[in-house]
Amino acid sequence: MNKKLLTLLLIAGIAVIFVATSLHAGTETKDELTLQDPGYKKPKKRAPKFKPLVFTHKKHSETLEISCNECHHDKEGKPLDIKVGDDVQKCSECHNKFKKDKKNKKDILVHQNAMHKNCITCHKDFNKKAGDPKGKKKDAAPQTCGKCHIKVKK
Ligand code: HEC
Ligand code: HEC
Ligand code: HEC
Ligand code: HEC
Repeated sequence: MNKKLLTLLLIAGIAVIFVATSLHAGTETKDELTLQDPGYKKPKKRAPKFKPLVFTHKKHSETLEISCNECHHDKEGKPLDIKVGDDVQKCSECHNKFKKDKKNKKDILVHQNAMHKNCITCHKDFNKKAGDPKGKKKDAAPQTCGKCHIKVKK
């Protein structure tokens, strides 16, 4: 077999593996999710100030071994028994208020309150346990606004 043919076969082989794995991933949960809920109105007259947050879903659930029901629950807020491949509802199907209520600032049905409570509570705990309560070390879990809402450079 000549070298050219061998190279071609190799490339074809890699391509097959690639297609197969990407199909596989499609039926599971995506590795990364862009959290940008359509419930928030985008500014029409100016460019967004912050980049959408990229959430490493797979890393959180697999590498960090956080169980699905730490984040996904039912209509009463009770843990759900789900596994990879199951469908889930978007947080905003229930946490469907997109403006903070001045009289009830912590209303958990406000989408950002639910996200902040879920994400930041765990991140703070994690950093505290790592001896870094302010989350300043390089590998800290983000707990301050600017670490999750990254400003778009002008
Ligand atoms: C751990 C990451 C994290 C941290 C830290 C965090 N947020 Fe968020 N925030 C989110 C996520 C996730 C959403 C939901 C985004 C979406 O779906 O559009 C959100 C939504 C919001 C929204 C509503 C969305 C919008 O575009 O208007 C505001 C306002 C907001 N955050 C402000 C803050 C402020 C102020 C702080 C600091 C006190 C903060 N956040 C800290 C993750 C974070
Ligand atoms: C650390 C929190 C967290 C963990 C752990 C977690 N998820 Fe999620 N998951 C989310 C968030 C946040 C979203 C985005 C929801 C939205 O858009 O409103 C999401 C979205 C999803 C989606 C829809 C997006 C897609 O790619 O299809 C599925 C399905 C899903 N999760 C399943 C699971 C399963 C199964 C597990 C456990 C193996 C799990 N999740 C673990 C937070 C988590
Ligand atoms: C089917 C509806 C539904 C969906 C979908 C849903 N939630 Fe909730 N969630 C609720 C309800 C209802 C409560 C209030 C429960 C209570 O009052 O104890 C709640 C409570 C919470 C709380 C507060 C829990 C506590 O210990 O105080 C957080 C945080 C939260 N949700 C985050 C999320 C996130 C993140 C998602 C998406 C990954 C999500 N929720 C999806 C209905 C839902
Ligand atoms: C139960 C715990 C837990 C929950 C809930 C959780 N995280 Fe995390 N997250 C972590 C830990 C631990 C790290 C640090 C991982 C590391 O770098 O070793 C982390 C790291 C991150 C990072 C840094 C970059 C990366 O992906 O490693 C981002 C961004 C992030 N989380 C976003 C979120 C958002 C958004 C939510 C809510 C939807 C969330 N997390 C919910 C535990 C959690």
